[in-house]
Parts: sequence; structure tokens; C-alpha cells
Amino acid sequence: MEIIIQPTAKDGSAVAAGIVARLLREKPDAVLGLATGRTPLLLYRELVQMKLDWSRVTTFNLDEYVGPPPAHPASFHCFMWEHLFRHVNVPKENVHIPDGLTKDVPAFCRQYEDAIRPAGGIDLQVLGIGTDGHIGFNEPTSSLASRTRLKTLTAQTRSDNARSFGGDDRVPHHVITMGIGTILEARQILLLAFGHAKAQAIAAAVEGPVTAMNPASALQLHPVVKVVLDEPAAARLSKADYYRWVYDNKPDWQII
Ligand code: GLP
Repeated sequence: MEIIIQPTAKDGSAVAAGIVARLLREKPDAVLGLATGRTPLLLYRELVQMKLDWSRVTTFNLDEYVGPPPAHPASFHCFMWEHLFRHVNVPKENVHIPDGLTKDVPAFCRQYEDAIRPAGGIDLQVLGIGTDGHIGFNEPTSSLASRTRLKTLTAQTRSDNARSFGGDDRVPHHVITMGIGTILEARQILLLAFGHAKAQAIAAAVEGPVTAMNPASALQLHPVVKVVLDEPAAARLSKADYYRWVYDNKPDWQII
């Protein structure tokens, strides 16, 4: 894992945007795995401002709530169109977001997985992290080999996401999410975490054991992971000084 600690979320998002932009310039038909939540908002804003060419890009989102229609303001469909897709020239048919209204969840999940392979596989997967260490909506105890499937949210995650629904009890219990095994097949992973609330989950994911109790710790098994943090999210890392030194002293050929 490469741990990149930046002073603020804005700085971290600029680093992340540089990584995504470089991929899109080098590989105009790149396949991106995308995340929702507050964390990638500044990244998406930066990417929009960069006016990159998205005409051949394909995207797969990590997850979606089961129940709310795509037009629901808290749905991840709504989030992605609002914050990214409507501002860039990505063809609508290249955008994939799990269908939270599907009548046949297992069949839909198989089709979602089956669509990733012919698209070329995911070149870069953007991730946030939940306060309990979840990635996508893979809650603690999710199988590290899991594929796209139905999951049930924990009370903690429902409470963390209550804001967009106007109360804990309005947050759906069920979601469709790419699995940890699905995420680990991306060629490159970019995990972002900003703010003090993420410090414990990040410390466990980066420096703790690989365990299904912190699903993000499974990223230790992936060979190309960049973890971009602001100072508050890095606050509980025991080797933060080492990560800073490594990043500040990279050989020229290794710079992002
Ligand atoms: C949700 C999403 C995750 C996201 C997490 C953190 O649970 N499914 O992909 O990483 O929230 O959200 P936030 O970035 O708002 O803290």
C-alpha cells in the first residue's frame, strides 16, 4: 500500500484527481469503478473542472440502496448524475450503477459482474471507507472473496447515512454492492479517507491484520493500492512519519 498523507481533503482530492486524470489521458477507454458518499465529492469536482474526455470511458458504481427509485435524492444514481456524470461527456450507456429496483436480485448481481469482464475489467477503483471499515457496502464479516450481492446494513452505517434520508429509520436496510472479491480484481485501487471519524477504520485497514471485521483491510492483499488521507484521517497511523518520508522522497520515475 502506498499511503499519501495530505494536509487537507482538498489537497488529497487534488492528488486523487491527478491519478484519475493521468489514467484517462493514457487510456481514453479506461474503465473506472466509482464510489459515492461525501468523501469523493471534491475529487469529482476537480475532475469536472479538468474538462477531460470521457467519451470512451466506462464506469461501474460500487453499490446502491434497494428500494428508493433512481430519482430519489438519496439514491446513488441521483448522487452520481448530480455530482459527476451530467457534467462530463460520458455516454449514458457506458454508466453502470446497481439497480435497486430489480425484481430478481441474484440474477441482476450476476449480470452486473458479467458486464465488468467484457468491458475490459476495472482499471481503477475509487473507494471511500465507512467508519466501521466497510468498502462499497461490504459490512464487517463480509467474505473477503464476496461478489456482487445483496447485503444488510449495520445500524452504524444506517446512522452514518441517515442525513441524506432525513432520519435513521428511513435508511433502507438492504443494498446491492460489489463484493470484496470483485473490488480486488480492479487493476489499481484508490482509497480516499478524510476527517477524524475515519482515523480508526484507516489505522485498522492499513496497519491491522487482514480481517473480515475491517473489510478495507482486504486491500492489503492487492498489489497496487494508493490510500490518500488528510491529516485527521491519518491521526492514528503509527508509521505516519515513515509514509510521509516515502512520499516526499520518491524517485522521479516513481512519481504518480
Ligand atoms: C457509504 C458508501 C461507501 C462510502 C461510505 C462512506 O456507505 N457505500 O462507498 O465509502 O458511505 O461515506 P462518506 O464518504 O460519506 O463518509
